[in-house]
Amino acid sequence: SAAEKGGYDYFMLKEIAEQPKAVADTLLGRIDGAGSLRLDEVRIPDSVLREVDKIVVVACGTAFHAGMIAKLAIEHWTRIPCETELASEFRYRDPILDSRTLVIAISQSGETMDTLMALRHAREQGAKVLAVCNTNGSTIPRESDAVLYTHAGPEVAVASTKAFLTQLVACYLVALYLAQVRGAKWGDEVRGVVRELSEISGEVERVLETMEPVRELARSLADKNTVLFLGRHVGYPVALEGALKLKELAYMHAEGFAAGELKHGPIALIEHDVPVVVVVPSPRGRSVLHEKIVSNIQEIRARGARTIVIAEEGDESVVPYADHLIWIPATPTLLQPLVSTVPLQVFACELATARGNEVDQPRNLAKSVTVE
Ligand code: G6P
Repeated sequence: SAAEKGGYDYFMLKEIAEQPKAVADTLLGRIDGAGSLRLDEVRIPDSVLREVDKIVVVACGTAFHAGMIAKLAIEHWTRIPCETELASEFRYRDPILDSRTLVIAISQSGETMDTLMALRHAREQGAKVLAVCNTNGSTIPRESDAVLYTHAGPEVAVASTKAFLTQLVACYLVALYLAQVRGAKWGDEVRGVVRELSEISGEVERVLETMEPVRELARSLADKNTVLFLGRHVGYPVALEGALKLKELAYMHAEGFAAGELKHGPIALIEHDVPVVVVVPSPRGRSVLHEKIVSNIQEIRARGARTIVIAEEGDESVVPYADHLIWIPATPTLLQPLVSTVPLQVFACELATARGNEVDQPRNLAKSVTVE
């Protein structure tokens, strides 16, 4: 009913709007005044976490994209080797697991069968499993050694939005906590990240306030057949997520690519007026990556692409090559997905609406897939 949707036309719009609160709620009580992580609820003893020598993240769909970002954060902050794998592929390849492996299973519903089967396999091999889950008492946390709940509140729309942002927050917390218990050097960089993470929900709110031009742009592209998405580093999973949302909701051909791969194939797809969304990393962080992506934008524009550029406020270097610019607030490099994903959610939702699609219940999809 309209009341359940809180005055919004769709649950998805309501859930997009709830993201600042979902992010803040997921952080609540987990970082103390001194900037230390407090994850007592994660019932795996610190002594076990200190011995972990490998981490594997398993998940499906949107949660898998959160897992790809988790890998980058975990390896950067903890130096523990980490891989992220589609839950549906994991157990069929005889993965190397033992008691020093930590498996992180990410699932909004806690009922996805592929993810459940992956974690059962991991536990049979003696690995410890930590669930990152949004649904209290669901099967995946019940069958795991420990759980860190995301506090997104119920997510009704099939396409995941607020759950994704809170999965990212939970993964950052896990990565930072591991670094903390293992006595990783708590340098200024990490201290700054913790501080900015605790304030990030306000930045998500600011992004939401500037979305009207994104909606306008989406409506203007309603008759396109294809949209491409490019990103690097954390921007690559964000590109994949932007493409997934568009497939799920707008039923359009959409593909995400790692921008460095452009020259190895995808550039052949660039023709006159193809919309290409480019997620640009901060010019302050990995500045080499930034330069490379700016030259990618020049290359595709020279071949006729319509460039839609998501860039950090104040990044003037992209202005000459952007047909459309979407500004996002400055964040530490690894946290950028919390703000760069939001315009892509709004974009997909509006484009689907413009095409007359049912946003909350896209065809052929289920909110949680309980068969393998
Ligand atoms: C389905 C949904 C996706 C979701 C995926 C994983 O495919 O349509 O939106 O990302 O399942 O769901 P989970 O509940 O495990 O996060």
